[in-house]
Parts: sequence; C-alpha cells; structure tokens
Amino acid sequence: MTRSIERSSRLNLDYALWGLQVNERGHLVIGGCDCVELAEEYGTPVHIVDSDLLQRNYHAFRESFTSHDIQVEIYYSYKTNPIPGILRILHEYGAGAEVISPYELWLALKSGISPDLIIYNGPNKSEAGLHSAIENRIKLININSCHEIEMITHLAEQLGTRVRVGVRLCTSVGWAEQFGFSIETGAAFEAFDRLSSLKRIDIEGIHTHLGTNIRNASSYEWAINDICQFMYTLKEKKGIGIKYLDLGGGFGVPTVRPFHKVEYNFHHIFDVPYIAPRSNNASLIETFAEKVVAAVQKGCEKYKLPVPILLFEPGRAMTSNTQILLATVGDLKTHQRGKIAMIDAGMNIALPTSWEYHEIFVANKMASAYQEFYSIVGPICTPQDVVSKRKKLPELEIGDLVSIMDAGAYFTSFSNDFSFPRPAVVMVSGGRHRVLRERERYDDMTQLDRVSWSGS
Ligand SMILES: Cc1ncc(COP(=O)(O)O)c(C=O)c1O
Repeated sequence: MTRSIERSSRLNLDYALWGLQVNERGHLVIGGCDCVELAEEYGTPVHIVDSDLLQRNYHAFRESFTSHDIQVEIYYSYKTNPIPGILRILHEYGAGAEVISPYELWLALKSGISPDLIIYNGPNKSEAGLHSAIENRIKLININSCHEIEMITHLAEQLGTRVRVGVRLCTSVGWAEQFGFSIETGAAFEAFDRLSSLKRIDIEGIHTHLGTNIRNASSYEWAINDICQFMYTLKEKKGIGIKYLDLGGGFGVPTVRPFHKVEYNFHHIFDVPYIAPRSNNASLIETFAEKVVAAVQKGCEKYKLPVPILLFEPGRAMTSNTQILLATVGDLKTHQRGKIAMIDAGMNIALPTSWEYHEIFVANKMASAYQEFYSIVGPICTPQDVVSKRKKLPELEIGDLVSIMDAGAYFTSFSNDFSFPRPAVVMVSGGRHRVLRERERYDDMTQLDRVSWSGS
C-alpha cells in the first residue's frame, strides 16, 4: 500500500520523488524490500542500492541525448561511487569508464571493458598512470597541463606507439585554476599548437567539466559557445578538427542542492532549519539534453563546423538517487537548544550532508506526523559530526531507523574508517537483495599494519 503523508513541504521532501513506497506497516520500501527488514538482516549503517532505478537513470540519460539525433557516448565518473558491483552493472548497460587515478584506471581495466571505453582525466596524472593508459591504448587521455604533454610524448616514444588525446579547457564559466588550459589567456591555443607538432600524438578531443550539481543548462550553453568559437580558431589557424567534444558531468538532481554560505552559517550558528530544494527548481536531464544539444548544433552551424561526437561523464545524475544510507538511532538527549538524536552514520560515511541538502526519513515511521525538531549527529566524537543541526521529523525513539537519501554520489568515495568500519552495500531489485560489498571487519581495518599484537 502506498500512502501519501502530509508533511511540511518547505522543510521535507516526499518519498515519492525517489519512486519509493510505504507499506501497510508504515515502513519505507525500496526495490520491493522493507527497509526495516533489510536493516535487521544486514545491520546498520548500511547502503541500499536500487538496481532498477540505476537502469532507468542510465537509459533516461542516454535517450535524452540520442532522441536529438546526435552521436553520444557515456562514461560513468568512477569517483562518484566506485563500488565495483555498481560499476559492473553500468558497464553491462553500455556505459564506459571515466577515471581520474591510476587505481580507477586499474579498476576499469580489471572490469574487462574494452580500453576503448575508458577516458583518463584529472589533474596531477602520474607517470605510472599515463604509462598504463598508453600501453593499454585507452580511448582518450584528456591532458590537464604542459607537464602532461611532455610526459605523454616521452612515454609514447618509449613505448613506440601513438596516443589519442583530448585537451581539458577552461571556459568563461565553471571550474578553472587547477583544471585545464584557459581559452581566454591563450594557454589552450598554445597547448594545441605544441601537440600539433608532435608526431606520435593524435589530437581527437576537447574536454571540459564545469562543476557538480549544476541546476540548469545555462552554464553549459555559455561553455559550448566558447568552445565552438575556439574550435573555429583551431580549424582556421592550425587546420585541427575535433572528433570528440567531452562535456564532462555536473548535471544536478532535483532532490539535492548545495548549501549557500549564508544559510549554512544560519543553520550552524542559529539552528535555522534548511529548506528542502524545490523539486522543480532543477532541470531534469531531458531539459539539459535539449539545451546542450541545441547549443552544440547552433555553435557548429554558426562557425561552419562538423558536429562532433558528444561524450559525457555523468556521476551524480546516474547514481545519486539510487542509493540510501540506513542508520539507527542509538541514543537521544535533550539539551538547552533542543533534542539530539545520535545515529550510527556521521561524517565518516555521510560527508556530503555537510555541504548539500540530503533528505532524511524515519524509515520505520513513514506514517507518523512530523512534529519535532532534532539535531542529528553521528558517532565519531567530534562537534563537527553533525548530519543536520535542526531537522523536522516524527518523534524519535531509540532503535528507530533513519534513511539518508541520495547516498549514491560521493558518499562511498568520501567514506573513511574514522573509528568505525565502513558499511556494507546491498543491492535490491524486485523484492530480492544481495550483498555487493561486505561490511568492513576490524581485521580489514588493520590488515596492512605490520605489528605483532601481544594479545594475538
Ligand atoms: C572530470 C569530471 N568528470 C565527471 C565528474 C562527475 O561529476 P557529476 O557527479 O557532477 O556528474 C567529475 C566530478 O567532479 C569530474 O571531475
């Protein structure tokens, strides 16, 4: 049975936004599984991944672009949620890998996908990482600095092979500084100039990545305009044509929004509750796709350029809403400033809650009225371990189960074992569940230490 619960819409979102259900016991249901039963079986904290939603997200992303009669390739951003079981499923659907470290490159190669489905990005690429990328003939290395150009040239010579490269550009919008070459200062043109003089280099792509959790398409439109103009300059002055336009990731989701500095300070100093994102306040992927494709087509037409193949590296848009983090209320306190609920998930495993809005539900009390404000804190014994300073929820008791939403982007990658083992990851679909990653054991946490214990 699905029940719609009336709640304070400015402070809380509705579970229906994640396609979740509530059963007759008032429990949250994900992928046909009762969250309370999952918590009983696997313990908490535990990540639960909905594989059907993962599939829907992938196909929706793909079709949003392909429906506009344009060639598109999708490379999942590994750093967003590097759980091999999740990566494997995305690869089965057809996604490639966007990697930013030698470890992620190793993981992508180990997954068995074709090297032609791997893109290597990131600042500070190591010689070992580049060596492996070149030796394995991956699809594209997106160059971030002059030093990388020289390292790649040297390695290509050493390995006696050609290398396919793209160049990361900074446009008039989006992330800059440690990332890529600026169009405005002329650094981008100089990089292409240098590359075009090198005999083992095939210049194939332009790359940019504007940021993360971008809420509407206008920054993509600006960046695409800058890039089309730059592609025209490259063609006119150097005769260089671009096969791939890699626009990175960055597409936001309606249920998560970054905090503004002012509201963050008000929340932490004066306990002002965060306002939930308006779900219609962020573009859906269909809207992004329509505007991005239109901007590319318009720019190419304006500068009389062939339309390049578009590459995307979505992270958040693919996995954010597919995963929840279940945690148990272990203790409750009343303090002069209000009630405090202590849960077994904090800044060790739920770090993104400190910079962006994540909805919280009480998974075993979905039918209860929202009547109390709580400070939700984690277990790691530091005043910074606050998931939310003031959150309106049903009245809590010890043993209640909370669900932190949108745990599928940057939760597992930012996790650490600060005093506690990292949680298990469980996948659900059609009422069935299976473990993707076991809960870390204490032995796992010390396995690399070279010490003999007197007690062992
Ligand atoms: C180069 C690159 N590509 C893709 C992504 C994925 O971004 P998002 O999760 O916002 O889609 C990132 C993340 O910052 C990135 O740095």
